[in-house]
Amino acid sequence: MNAIYDHVGMETLICKGLNKEYEPGKYALRSVSLSIPASGIFALIGRNGAGKTTLVRILATQLMPTSGSATIDGMDVVRDADRLRESIACVPQEARLIGWLTPRQLVMSYLYWRGFGKAEADDRGMAALRKLGIERFANTLGRALSGGIKRKVLVAAVMASEARVLFLDEPTTGLDPISRAELWGTLQKLKKDHFIFLTTHYLEEAERLADTIGILDNGRLMAMGTLEELRGMVRYPYSIKILSKTGVEKPKHGELIVGADGQKQIVTTEDEANRISTKLIRAGVRLSMSPLSLDDIFYYVVRKPIEAGDNNDEEESW
Ligand SMILES: Nc1ncnc2c1ncn2[C@@H]1O[C@H](COP(=O)(O)OP(=O)(O)OP(=O)(O)O)[C@@H](O)[C@H]1O
Ligand SMILES: [Mg+2]
Repeated sequence: MNAIYDHVGMETLICKGLNKEYEPGKYALRSVSLSIPASGIFALIGRNGAGKTTLVRILATQLMPTSGSATIDGMDVVRDADRLRESIACVPQEARLIGWLTPRQLVMSYLYWRGFGKAEADDRGMAALRKLGIERFANTLGRALSGGIKRKVLVAAVMASEARVLFLDEPTTGLDPISRAELWGTLQKLKKDHFIFLTTHYLEEAERLADTIGILDNGRLMAMGTLEELRGMVRYPYSIKILSKTGVEKPKHGELIVGADGQKQIVTTEDEANRISTKLIRAGVRLSMSPLSLDDIFYYVVRKPIEAGDNNDEEESW
């Protein structure tokens, strides 16, 4: 590897035209290309079956792409897989603790497998359990631990390794709000020394944690950037959520969207949002106005807006 390539490749994640075809004609990833600094936290969001786990598995060198390429810190996920594996660690979506191992034994086993000796594995493992605030469970059998503690043990294992790049596929699924917030705190601390690539269905989690967010849908990377950049990509960055049960018209500059739960929402420009909300408030309509949240952006990106032309509600349109 020459010096220039070395420099360009440092601390970056680059995918070029990644495709994954599990069965003929069935693409889980379609031409995924991205280039981001491999530092901080990257959150990949998308519906069930969008291709998130497939992308994680390819980047974590567990699955071969059908075509295209990807490099992390300048190392190709196929050609340099052995070398790359030393600097990455992954908690798969389906990872479970072994019931008859304690957290200490599990973390140590993982570290032995990664090549650490007994004393170092014990030191590093216990330090990680301590950092995550679960040291007191170190010697409890896995089967006796709650789901949240089990997830934290898995995170402790990867953070105890020497890996700089951590892949966490839905790390907080099934956690209660407090355990989730605790894990967020841990990830925020971890990101100082690690690059964390996580997937999540909790958009609030991506919004709070991620430096960069990618939206994957049907195998395609639909949008990527910071929350502000994503907001800048959508045509209408302001949202008015209609809280009253009332008919509303599509604005001249904007869209009228009806959520699956029937919630009506107008997305529009800031000026138009001010004008419309003043008019609606005068008409007695209850509403909330704000810049688009990641939830809004996500729906906007993965779904075509549905126009609420029917106005079947009993109350009058404004
Ligand atoms: N081993 C496999 N063989 C065939 N098809 C697969 C395989 N693994 C995944 N798929 C298909 O690839 C697509 C993407 O799956 P993937 O697991 O990557 O999605 P995901 O975004 O992680 O979904 P979820 O949010 O439910 O975890 C889906 O249509 C899935 O059925
Ligand atoms: Mg998945």
